[in-house]
Amino acid sequence: METTFTLKILRGTRGEQYWEEFVLPRHPQANVISCLMEIQKNPVNKKGEKTTPVAWEQGCLEEVCGSCSMLVNGRPRQACTAIIESYLRLGPTITLAPFTKFPLIRDLCVDRTSMFEALKKIRGWISVDGTEDSGQFGPSISQEVQEAMYTLSTCMTCGCCSESCPQVNEKSDFMGPAAMSQIRLFNANPTGALEKSERMQAALSEEGIAGCGNAQNCVRVCPKNIPLTESLALIGREASKQAIKNFLGLPDAKKGS
Ligand code: SF4
Ligand code: SF4
Ligand code: FES
Repeated sequence: METTFTLKILRGTRGEQYWEEFVLPRHPQANVISCLMEIQKNPVNKKGEKTTPVAWEQGCLEEVCGSCSMLVNGRPRQACTAIIESYLRLGPTITLAPFTKFPLIRDLCVDRTSMFEALKKIRGWISVDGTEDSGQFGPSISQEVQEAMYTLSTCMTCGCCSESCPQVNEKSDFMGPAAMSQIRLFNANPTGALEKSERMQAALSEEGIAGCGNAQNCVRVCPKNIPLTESLALIGREASKQAIKNFLGLPDAKKGS
């Protein structure tokens, strides 16, 4: 068995990207982040040249924060859980590249601000309604709904879904599947439902659900196995209902329904 492997990394800034290769020792438990740390300690490329350390983002190192997203062998995923040995079964070289659907900062770092802006647009929160000070329990939520909400709540805004989505591109304003799925999460909460119609207005906007072409790439790459196509179908139906309410000028068109 080879004792080393090659990490081939797409580096640089916008318009000035280049591939650089690094040879690293194989370790049974190594993941992409631990290899990037190795390079950081000794930034010498495959040609033996001293180079600059590679820039990347990381936080939790346990697939919770979503910051280490990148393309590993061309597929969007979290670098912190990308185990090197599992990739070496496919070949001796592993490629790393930054996401393409977000502005490139440098090397493997991109700016995912658009995803957080989308969460603001869909009101991705539960507003304080005063009941927390009343000494009473809030409205009860069935076990079934709680479990569905828990799965949706594991979204870490990593952007893998948007990266894979053909409808998220420079010509489209589509907010992407994660924001649509978060509308479902916050509408499912009884207090959150008070702002359901405002969220549905965002889903009906030019940046909303009409942007989805149902290619279903998103659901295949989500590291949290969030049922995105189910969320997209549900939000699509709810958006149609909202459009009818808007058309008829029903009193609940703007406020909770
Ligand atoms: S279903 Fe397809 S088009 Fe719709 S958000 Fe997912 S990847 Fe994009
Ligand atoms: S829905 Fe999945 S892939 Fe998309 S941002 Fe959330 S966790 Fe990442
Ligand atoms: S470092 Fe947080 S998801 Fe990878």
